[in-house]
Amino acid sequence: MIQLLFLIICPCAIRNVHSHNISNPNAILLMADDLGIGDLGCYGNRTLRTPNIDRLAKDGVTLTQHIAASPLCTPSRAAFLTGRYPIRSGMAAHSRVGVFLFSASSGGLPSEEITFSKLLKQRGYSTALIGKWHLGMNCESSNDFCHHPLNHGFDYFYGITVTNLRDCKLGQGSVFLKGIGKSISTLMETIGITLVSLATVHLIGFLKIPFRALGYCLLITAILLLALFFFFYNYRYLNCFLMRNHQIIQQPLSYENLTQRLTKEAIQFIGRNTNVPFLLVLSYLHVHTALHASKKFIGKSKHGLYGDAVEEMDWSVGQILDVLEKNNLNSKTLVYFTSDQGAHLEEISSSGEVHGGYNGIYKGGKSTNWEGGIRVPGLLFWSGVIEAGTHIDEPTSNMDIFPTVIKLAGAELPSDRIIDGHDLMPLLQGKIIQSKHEFLFHYCNAYLNAVRWHPRKSDSVWKVIFFTPNFNPEDSNGCYDSHVCFCSGRSVTHHDPPLLFDLSRDPEEKVPLTPEMESHFYEILHVIEQAVHNHTKSLHAVPDQLSWNNLLWKPWLQVCCSTLFQSCYCDYESKENLPEMHFG
Ligand SMILES: *[C@@H]1O[C@H](CO)[C@@H](O)[C@H](O)[C@H]1NC(C)=O
Ligand SMILES: *[C@@H]1O[C@H](CO)[C@@H](O)[C@H](O)[C@H]1NC(C)=O
Ligand SMILES: *[C@@H]1O[C@H](CO)[C@@H](O)[C@H](O)[C@H]1NC(C)=O
Ligand SMILES: *[C@@H]1O[C@H](CO)[C@@H](O)[C@H](O)[C@H]1NC(C)=O
Repeated sequence: MIQLLFLIICPCAIRNVHSHNISNPNAILLMADDLGIGDLGCYGNRTLRTPNIDRLAKDGVTLTQHIAASPLCTPSRAAFLTGRYPIRSGMAAHSRVGVFLFSASSGGLPSEEITFSKLLKQRGYSTALIGKWHLGMNCESSNDFCHHPLNHGFDYFYGITVTNLRDCKLGQGSVFLKGIGKSISTLMETIGITLVSLATVHLIGFLKIPFRALGYCLLITAILLLALFFFFYNYRYLNCFLMRNHQIIQQPLSYENLTQRLTKEAIQFIGRNTNVPFLLVLSYLHVHTALHASKKFIGKSKHGLYGDAVEEMDWSVGQILDVLEKNNLNSKTLVYFTSDQGAHLEEISSSGEVHGGYNGIYKGGKSTNWEGGIRVPGLLFWSGVIEAGTHIDEPTSNMDIFPTVIKLAGAELPSDRIIDGHDLMPLLQGKIIQSKHEFLFHYCNAYLNAVRWHPRKSDSVWKVIFFTPNFNPEDSNGCYDSHVCFCSGRSVTHHDPPLLFDLSRDPEEKVPLTPEMESHFYEILHVIEQAVHNHTKSLHAVPDQLSWNNLLWKPWLQVCCSTLFQSCYCDYESKENLPEMHFG
C-alpha cells in the first residue's frame, strides 16, 4: 500500500532508481584494430564519415589523451584485459617479434592473470568476446585451450584467435614472404657461393671434399626450405580460422560479410541478455590489413579500401547503438570505443594504395612510442550518468577500463597484485579534475622506451624518451623497410640525456627541449628517474610468453576442422543465411 502510494506520488523516484542503479550496468567495449586517432570525425577528420562513432562523442565523453599501454596488438590487449602493464604478465617480448603470428604457438595470456571478464562472470554477468583475440590458445596439447577466451572469463566466443593479416586473404600479399623472402635469398646466395668455392678448391686439388656428406647437408636444407615454403603457402589454413567457442567453424576464414557476421553475433548476444547484466567485448578485425569491406561499402569512401573499412566499422557501431536504444538499455550500459594502438603507417599495398590510417598531428604510428603509436581514440557513453559532449584532456590509459568496470559490477579489485589502471568514473563524472596517472610508462616490447609525467597542479605533460626507432632518412615518419619498428639493437638510437618534450606545448614532439630552453630540465629528469626506479622495483620476473619457444609454430598444437583426416578446411558458416540487416 505504501509502495503504491509512493508510486503514484513520485514516479520520478522510481525512474531514478532505474537509471541510477549503477551497481550492475552492462558494459559494451568496442575495440578497433590499428585505427588512427585522426580517422574519426569526432577527432577532427573531415572526409571520412563516422557519424555513429561521432554519436558516442556527442552524447558522451571524448578523451583526448587516451593512451594504449603498448603500440602493438598482443601486449596492448593483454594490458586492456588485465589492467596491468604487459610486462607484468610476461606479454612483452624480449625478442624482435612482439605479437603472436601462429595459432599453434604455446604462449598466451597466462591463466593466473585476472581479466575483467573473469571478475564480471563471477558477479553473474553474461560475457562474450566477439572478434579478434590475439592472446594465445593452447599450451601443451591442441585442445587444452589454456589461453583461449573461454578460459579467461568469457562465456561465449565468436572470432579469430590470432590476428587478421595480409597472409590470411588471397591476393593481399604476404607480410612473411616480405621478411622471410629476404632471408631465404641471402641463405641461397651463401650456399651457392660456398658450393662454388668448395668445388673450385676441390678441382684445384687443395682439399678432398666429402661430396657425399655435403650432398646430405644440401638435401636436408632443401627439405627444410620446402617445409617452410609449404607452411607459409598454407598459412591461411593453419592460422586464419573462425571459431565459435571451442569449435572451428570456418577454415580458412572468409572475408565475405565478415563485419556483418560479427555485428549479427553481437546483436544476438545483446538480445539474449536484455534482462541480465552483460559484458560484450566487440573486437573488430577492422582496420588491420588484410583490408576488406562488404559490397555495400566497397568504393564508397573518399579514402580507398581503408576508408571503406572504417565506414563499415562505423556502420556496425551504429547497429549496436540502435539495438541498445531499442531495448531501453542506454541508461544501463557503459559503452566504450577505442583502438588497440595508433595507425600502421607502413601499410602500403603492393599497388601503392595506402592501407594504414591517419594519426592526426601526432608523430609516428603503430610499433613506436611516439604519440602516433599510443594516443588512441577514447570515447565513453552512458546516458544519464556521464555528461554528454565533454572533453577530458587528462592522461588516461586503456588499462583504466579494468578497474572501472570491476567497480561498476561491484566486484573487488584483486589485492594480490599491482593494478596499473585507475577507475575512470570520478574523472568522467567530474568528481575529480586531475587524472590519477601522474606517471605512465611506455614500453616497446619489454624495453622501457619513454615516460610521461603529468605533475599534480600543473598543465605540463612531460615526456622523456630514452631511445627512438631509426626511421629511414627519406621517410621521417616510419620504418618502411621492416614493416614495423623494432625495439632494440641496431634498430634504435639511445639518447643520453634522454629527449624531453612538454606535450602540452609540443604535442607533435617536434623540438626536444634542451637545458637552455627548459630551466628545470635536470630536475624533471631526476623525478622521472625516481619514478622509473620505483616502477622497476615493482616488477617481478615472470615466464616470457613471447620467447622464441613460445612464439614458434608447434605442429602438435595445430588445430584443424577435422581430426580424422587432418584436413584444415571446413565452412559451416556459409550454409547459414544471414538475417536481413538494415543499412542506414
Ligand atoms: C539493481 O541492482 C541490484 C543488484 O545490485 C538488483 O538486485 C536490482 O534488481 C537492480 N534494480 C534494477 C531496477 O535494475
Ligand atoms: C581522414 O582520414 C583519412 C584516412 O586515414 C586520411 O587520409 C585523411 O588525411 C584524414 N583527413 C583529415 C582532414 O584528417
Ligand atoms: C552478404 O550480404 C549481402 C547483403 O545482405 C547478401 O546479398 C549476400 O548474399 C551475402 N553473402 C553471403 C555469402 O552471405
Ligand atoms: C618513489 O618511492 C618513494 C618511496 O615510496 C617515494 O617517497 C617517492 O615519492 C617515489 N617517487 C616517485 C617519483 O614516484
